Amino acid sequence: MRPDILTKIEGYDRVVRERETCRKYGTDFSVERGAVEEYVRRLHPDRMHLKVAEIIEETPSAKTFRLVSPNGPLPPFQAGQYVCVYCDIGSVRTGRPYSLSSPPGHRGYYDITVKAVEDGFVSDHLLNDIRRGDILETSGPEGHFHFNPILHDRALVLLAGGSGVTPFMSMIRESLESGLERTFWLFHGDREPGEAMFREELERLAARFTNLRYIPVIENPSPGYGGACGYITADLIRREIGDAAGKTFFICGPGEMYRFCIPEILSLEVPAGKIRREVFGPPKSISRSPGWPVEVREDDRFIVSVKGGKSIPAKAGEPLLVALERGGIVIPSLCRSGECSQCRLKLLAGRVYQPEGTPVRRSDRQHGYIHSCAAYPLEDLEILL
Ligand SMILES: Cc1cc2nc3c(=O)[nH]c(=O)nc-3n(C[C@H](O)[C@H](O)[C@H](O)COP(=O)(O)OP(=O)(O)OC[C@H]3O[C@@H](n4cnc5c(N)ncnc54)[C@H](O)[C@@H]3O)c2cc1C
Ligand code: FES
Repeated sequence: MRPDILTKIEGYDRVVRERETCRKYGTDFSVERGAVEEYVRRLHPDRMHLKVAEIIEETPSAKTFRLVSPNGPLPPFQAGQYVCVYCDIGSVRTGRPYSLSSPPGHRGYYDITVKAVEDGFVSDHLLNDIRRGDILETSGPEGHFHFNPILHDRALVLLAGGSGVTPFMSMIRESLESGLERTFWLFHGDREPGEAMFREELERLAARFTNLRYIPVIENPSPGYGGACGYITADLIRREIGDAAGKTFFICGPGEMYRFCIPEILSLEVPAGKIRREVFGPPKSISRSPGWPVEVREDDRFIVSVKGGKSIPAKAGEPLLVALERGGIVIPSLCRSGECSQCRLKLLAGRVYQPEGTPVRRSDRQHGYIHSCAAYPLEDLEILL
């Protein structure tokens, strides 16, 4: 039944006429052409150009860069995801992933928090050369290191090493701000007390919310330091969380941290499937990884020939992707930790070392594909891009 009041709405006759035409001849979707692609691009952009609106000094060695878009709200993301920041440093074009530390509910900006590393290349550039008002080129939000309500428990044990706390800041801020039903134990390992990023905020939040327990763990404490010291051990975890059953573990930090912490977590009888991990970049010294051939030294040098292209020098101790970029060859990259497969290329000749567990698809392995961000030359190579 058509209420008469509708007929009085402006444009009513036109809508009825259009509906009749569509019924008779079908709908013309050509006017919508490109609209879906445009929508998808806005939600999952390949590249963004974001302005540095603010730079916040977190500790003497870490800064938060608050990034805004000239086009209004930023694409949605899941707490725990990262963006890759692309930059040109001298003649080298490269990128590095940085987790978003702001909560997803704040769509007006993204925060990334960058910590200085020894001999850092991109971190050094960001911390020393980037100013308020500069534009950073980034990917859209990426990655799978986030809470999944179907797979994960609502009791979450978070283990962070150094800057590995950033994705957890996003998760904790989101949950506490939005009153989500989740409980967190955050263990944050750092070398010195002054290096622990977000410490004041986390202490404040832990004092206010009963569903957050914050446990900083300091490797080299000053005399008289009263908190937990050394490494994040099974004993410490058990003391804080009690029974590990019904809890999901998230671990994020440098590769060295995994070698110590994963066996500790497993010793608490946590099933491997309940441990989610994100590795923050390549290990400092790859030759200490299991399976590295003893006869190859990290500073051994080789030649990498690109089929139909140029030849470049490469070092055994550096990921092949770094050698390519240093040699002026830019290929797609995103996670730089072997996960996303953007940097895959075909190895035609020669041997590389790929750390155990690098997730190269079986069919890729069979056809000689490698992830160049997690592949280290062991002799001269020929590759196909
Ligand atoms: C998913 C993910 C999220 C991350 N989130 C964060 C985060 O929130 N905060 C954070 O601080 N870090 C984060 N990281 C780590 C971050 O991506 C970088 O690895 C870190 O900032 C160190 O980068 P760097 O370039 O300074 O040092 P490295 O990555 O150690 O770079 C040094 C490398 O650059 C090479 N290099 C040096 N000089 C040159 C040159 N002239 N040309 C070419 N190559 C050169 C060196 O050989 C060496 O391999 C994250 C990593 C991952 C994987
Ligand atoms: S850049 Fe993601 S696998 Fe290499």
